[in-house]
Amino acid sequence: MMRGENASNSESYMFLKKELPVRLANIMKEFHLLPENLLHMPSVGAVRDLYRRSFMDLLEYETTSPTNTTITLEKFTEALVKIRNRHSDVVMTMAQGVMELKDAHAINANTESNIQYFLDRFYMNRISIRMLINQHTMLFGENVNSQNHIGSIDPHCNVVRVIEDAYSNARFLCDQYYLASPELVLTHHNADTHPASVVYVPSHLYHMLFELFKNAMRAVVEHHGPEADNFPPVRVLLVMGEEDLTIKLSDQGGGIPRSLMDLLFNYMYSTAPQPAVSGLDTPPLAGYGYGLPLSRLYARYFHGDLQVTSCDGYGTDTTIYLKALSSEANELLPVYNKTCQRQYSTPVQTHDWSSQMNSAMFIRPFSTNSRNKHQQNSS
Ligand SMILES: Nc1ncnc2c1ncn2[C@@H]1O[C@H](COP(=O)(O)OP(=O)(O)O)[C@@H](O)[C@H]1O
Ligand SMILES: [Mg+2]
Repeated sequence: MMRGENASNSESYMFLKKELPVRLANIMKEFHLLPENLLHMPSVGAVRDLYRRSFMDLLEYETTSPTNTTITLEKFTEALVKIRNRHSDVVMTMAQGVMELKDAHAINANTESNIQYFLDRFYMNRISIRMLINQHTMLFGENVNSQNHIGSIDPHCNVVRVIEDAYSNARFLCDQYYLASPELVLTHHNADTHPASVVYVPSHLYHMLFELFKNAMRAVVEHHGPEADNFPPVRVLLVMGEEDLTIKLSDQGGGIPRSLMDLLFNYMYSTAPQPAVSGLDTPPLAGYGYGLPLSRLYARYFHGDLQVTSCDGYGTDTTIYLKALSSEANELLPVYNKTCQRQYSTPVQTHDWSSQMNSAMFIRPFSTNSRNKHQQNSS
């Protein structure tokens, strides 16, 4: 991505007319490994149709001779825009498909883990395809963008500005829901010697931060009660290291119990009420359960990561890691191979450590408080 020189329109065309169908085909093949009954859900069928159509659209260019006349190049760019628009609602449609399945069938642990595995790869594949399309259309499409943006990549992405943007938009939503919101306290470590400017896609960074701010604000306001006089701020620590750029959000929103940590990155895991489908004027603050898993994909796409740690009863730290050097930030892509196929057919591992309930009456170091007793009884 971060090459010194930019490809010309026809070079980019030659690359994309091969690469895009390959990426589409890879994920289309993986659809076949999904549980049969998920494939029969109407929304999943609709998504597969979109992919099929886009694949066919691109195949036209594969067969034309490589005489890339201006007309062909223009048509190709238009086709890409059409494909991008066609796929704009895919995240929601696919989520809908999984909900249809959950309504229609009981889902076992294997199905659950296959869906989780698939969605990570499916959405990552989508991120990568949109990235390629955006690069091309922004460089060679109609409204060619200002010179200092290489497509959708900003060679001088101003991290502080993106943090402030994401904060203020999340705050706007939070205020609408609760008529209250916590302040932001931003600490930029070594700002004068290590300014936080990276080669990055600002919209990806924005997406992650916006989701994390919404989560932190919701937790803080819910934990202290919307009526509270003042809230502990959401603190952000920004550090530009030799290797990593780290952005750590710390909130005092009561934290997350350790027993729930494994669920955080599950698609559709949310403790918020499911948002109403109608009334699209204000997007919901929470409730789809896509915030964390999708944000982590964005971070991992350029070999970064996103991690959550928490103190139950106090608050949560969420950390975004990005590569500080653009030369290390290549795309991380799902590969369709034997390992991947095996993943779908391998049953979820059963535990090889036991927790013996019947010994609990003799060995009870943890069961002295009533909360734990209650949890054991109910499990
Ligand atoms: N900062 C936080 N403090 C407490 N709980 C959190 C925090 N961030 C996330 N969570 C928990 O993780 C769940 C999933 O978060 P997310 O994936 O963003 O989905 P959503 O916000 O739609 O529920 C939330 O519903 C919440 O229970
Ligand atoms: Mg969220």
